[in-house]
Amino acid sequence: MKAYLKKQRKAGRSVGLVPTMGALHQGHASLVRRSVAENDVTVVSVFLNPTQFNDKTDLEKYPRTLEADCHLLEECGAQVAFAPSVEEVYPEPDTRHFSYPPTDSVMEGAMRPGHFNGVCQIVSKLFMYVSPDRAYFGEKDYQQIAVIRRMVEDLGFDIEIVPCPVVREESGLALSSRNTLLSPEERTLAANIYRVMKESLSLDKTVQQTHDYVVENINQIEGLQVQYYSIVDGDSLAEVNSWDDADSIVGCITVFCGSAPIRLIDHIRYK
Ligand code: PAF
Repeated sequence: MKAYLKKQRKAGRSVGLVPTMGALHQGHASLVRRSVAENDVTVVSVFLNPTQFNDKTDLEKYPRTLEADCHLLEECGAQVAFAPSVEEVYPEPDTRHFSYPPTDSVMEGAMRPGHFNGVCQIVSKLFMYVSPDRAYFGEKDYQQIAVIRRMVEDLGFDIEIVPCPVVREESGLALSSRNTLLSPEERTLAANIYRVMKESLSLDKTVQQTHDYVVENINQIEGLQVQYYSIVDGDSLAEVNSWDDADSIVGCITVFCGSAPIRLIDHIRYK
């Protein structure tokens, strides 16, 4: 992959990177198509990164579909699918420690200790291997983008981070690799998450009341259990108490769905 990219660079071609963990769906396809449109060469990494899973059962349950992934990438026009083994990426345990509070210490950072450290470990490695001009990340993982922006600033990577909008099913459910683990009934239930968050946009209530509205209305639905709903500054991810506290305000949610249960995340922009 490095030799191939060296040739492309020599020929003056720009490179886009789309980091993924595989189990690709139309959400990923939208990132890949965007990279293909904006760069001469698109590299898509398919690597189920063990260091970002604090829960090893979650890692075991994660769908693995490399062959189907490669077909989708070909259809989207990507030039390279980069799927290294765990041993190639981590010949030795990665002992590097990244810390960018509050972006990585709140919400997912608090619920999944070590998760963003693992994300920074793999994304920094991918940035070093590929050295892309641009890297594409789905806004579905809103907090991840905030953390990666801080890492890019901290380590001085000369890489443009391109956030791409969430792709949703017609029902409003955000596309996610984890959706394949939901039964058809659970999928229908899960669509209520975005429906309730969207309703909360037009409430004309305080931040606290809006928070409570979302949590109460989702928890009322049997089979859904909110783990947290945080209304935060869209850049620093610090919690806000009033709508005037920040220029950009986003609500980030995590909900357990069904009996397994499957943990789903989503977000909505208030301003
Ligand atoms: O968003 C993901 O799929 C992963 O966190 C990423 C960025 C590919 C790193 O493993």
